[in-house]
Amino acid sequence: MKITWWGHAAVYIEGSRTVIIDPFLTGNPVAAITPDEINHADIVIVTHDHGDHLGDAFTICKKTKATLVGIHEIAVMAQENGLEAEGMNIGGTIQVKGVTIHMVNALHSCDKGDPAGVVVEMDGQTLYHAGDTALTYDMKLIGEFFQPDLSFLPIGDRYTMGIPSAAKAVEFTQTKKVIPIHYGTFPLVAADPFEFKKRVGDRAEVIILKQGESYNLV
Ligand code: NI
Ligand code: MN
Repeated sequence: MKITWWGHAAVYIEGSRTVIIDPFLTGNPVAAITPDEINHADIVIVTHDHGDHLGDAFTICKKTKATLVGIHEIAVMAQENGLEAEGMNIGGTIQVKGVTIHMVNALHSCDKGDPAGVVVEMDGQTLYHAGDTALTYDMKLIGEFFQPDLSFLPIGDRYTMGIPSAAKAVEFTQTKKVIPIHYGTFPLVAADPFEFKKRVGDRAEVIILKQGESYNLV
């Protein structure tokens, strides 16, 4: 499975299916790709409707015919825009095109519905994308239930967890590998991923990517 960080919270996962999460590209000063360059996607997952997460999701779904997955209110909005969408809610699990998606809690704000995180199971790998969230004790449940092989955790602080809480989230979620996200996009979310790596220590492997860089998860 190949995982590419497009910058901010946007990740591109290529396995038996192609899954995109939170594609904020237009207006993202460090985005590694433009929506025009995306020609294939099976599923686009949106964690919440803030502009830096919903981003270009609708445009990409329209172009690629990907299925949008999001909380009920976002899915309805997508359907009203003529898109193929699967709505769900926190606590639920759905299968889309052979990919298992669990929607989990996130402690944050948003306009429509509620903010969420997702656990994605594909090709025998379990991935947790936290969305925008504070550190919560609920992450211990993610550890107990899912034991993610790899997690995408925000470290940029101010709007989400910062480095100390994200390091604690690594412990709570029992994740084996972690890719820090939601930092380095704007001055307000500046953070040093190497400081995060140091704090995590030997609890998990911290994979620091540059925007546009990929990691092969085996
Ligand atoms: Ni947000
Ligand atoms: Mn955000």
